[in-house]
Amino acid sequence: MKPVILVTRKLPDAVEDRLRRDYDPRLNPGDVLYSADELIERAGDVDAILPCHTEKFTAEVIARLPGRVRAIANFSVGYDHVDVKAARARGIIVTNTPEVLSDATAELTMMLLLGAARRASEGERLVRTGTWKDWSPGFMVGTQVTGKRLGILGFGRIGQVVAKRARGFDMEIHYHDVRRATPDLEAGAIFHPTPEAMMPHCDFLTLHCVSTPETFRLLNAVRIALLPDGAIVVNASRGAVVDDEALIGALKSGKLTAAGLDVYTNEPDIHPGYRDLPNVFLMPHIASATKETRDAMGFRALDNLDAVFAGREPRDRVA
Ligand code: DGY
Repeated sequence: MKPVILVTRKLPDAVEDRLRRDYDPRLNPGDVLYSADELIERAGDVDAILPCHTEKFTAEVIARLPGRVRAIANFSVGYDHVDVKAARARGIIVTNTPEVLSDATAELTMMLLLGAARRASEGERLVRTGTWKDWSPGFMVGTQVTGKRLGILGFGRIGQVVAKRARGFDMEIHYHDVRRATPDLEAGAIFHPTPEAMMPHCDFLTLHCVSTPETFRLLNAVRIALLPDGAIVVNASRGAVVDDEALIGALKSGKLTAAGLDVYTNEPDIHPGYRDLPNVFLMPHIASATKETRDAMGFRALDNLDAVFAGREPRDRVA
């Protein structure tokens, strides 16, 4: 008998083909977003769940999962949607999909950085709405990226790829992480022992830390105040690491020139204050949304499931 897997969202065809070959999958062809109750009901006779970050596995949901569920193999690198402590306590294995989305996320990060600096939202709107009237030397003047200082908060796999891409723009790389990277990974990047120490060196700041209680609203009014006037902030990690009120206030006051955001608190009902700001470049949580990466995320989640059902330690176990 093949293990039964509850797949909560529509996955790429190649991933679903492999699921059908190796498992007895309960797929979601209509890509319906399940409520917590539906999730628990559908998990009734399954051996594992393959969810996305859109399904919240709170302690309460985990407590209500049937005892047969052995693993939650996430189709995501972030796993802040899973209460790992509760899963651990119930002996449920939790995995994620690191590495395979670092390139796609770094690409989107550079797009946010460039889009915010060069006023992409404003320019595109002018052209699309037929309100572009003229050209002049002072028209749509933005911030040059080349040669500027980039602060990377969270120097894990994604942060390190962002550093590489940013070096293509001759940026001077600064970073803060809880651990200092080895010299070969640093590749000349300047380490700061605290976020506070790094802030004054960031013409651009990009956030790549995991969302945990410790990083909740890490970018708050106090730390924004430490950035140079006119700095630009980019976030493609999780919305929870930013204090929205503080960021919106700084974008309105001119303390910050612009921001590029892909992630938000309470997606997709984001803080309404962002919608009216001309100096934000907004994307709908698509950093890993390339064909190559979405396939790779699915295969990585399946590799983890394969290990669980073969009695091996899954490569990407987080609980
Ligand atoms: C991730 O992998 O964490 C992305 O944000 C998509 O969920």
